[in-house]
Amino acid sequence: MDVPPEINNVNSSSKWERDYQRGTAGWDIGTPTPVFQRLIRSGEFPPGRILVPCAGRGHDAREFARHGFEVVAVDFAREAVEQMRALMDDASQYEIWQGDLFQLPQEWNDTFDYVLEYTCYCALDPKRREEYADMIARVLKKGGKYIALALPLNERVGGPPFTVKPDELISQLTQRGLKLLHREFPSDSIKPRKGNEELLVMKKT
Ligand SMILES: C[S@@+](CC[C@H](N)C(=O)[O-])C[C@H]1O[C@@H](n2cnc3c(N)ncnc32)[C@H](O)[C@@H]1O
Repeated sequence: MDVPPEINNVNSSSKWERDYQRGTAGWDIGTPTPVFQRLIRSGEFPPGRILVPCAGRGHDAREFARHGFEVVAVDFAREAVEQMRALMDDASQYEIWQGDLFQLPQEWNDTFDYVLEYTCYCALDPKRREEYADMIARVLKKGGKYIALALPLNERVGGPPFTVKPDELISQLTQRGLKLLHREFPSDSIKPRKGNEELLVMKKT
């Protein structure tokens, strides 16, 4: 059966809608990410306003909200947004903004204490990575932190997910005034992703 071209276009919400509707959202681990749970527990990241772009079904967004963070979750797929809403409970309320992360409101400039990155950068058209870096630098407050699990590191042909090179991501953000504070290969990555993702923490100076 012929499929319309936007179905295979990562820049189109239709591609992602279709994955959620057909149950082919293979990236979704169904629970919060253990590495982020550890960071929350560590006390090194006190609650603040956090942007979660490409939030999907919102497992990480809910976890941060449950721990007192003021979460703003962004996704352009209606199906993901509906499921995020359905999965919220009284202890994990947060704002959902359905739209394109390349068109975030200007009022959000310099307002976030944190931006969380997981399975977003790798889902975007690689030609748009500079635009993504512009967005991060624009919405973070001075002193705000970018917390990223950069995945997948292994060389792949095509995507999504498209291969992520942490050094390239760090360089794109450094050019926009962020400074690398920490990087590690987490020992608590979920098993299938162990060694294939790197934790990066950067700060807007
Ligand atoms: C690979 S999924 C990851 C979802 C979630 N982070 C997770 O790990 O379950 C990528 C998500 O990004 C969303 N997305 C992709 N491009 C987007 C864009 N330009 N603006 C907003 N959302 C986008 C898709 O709808 C999808 O939910």
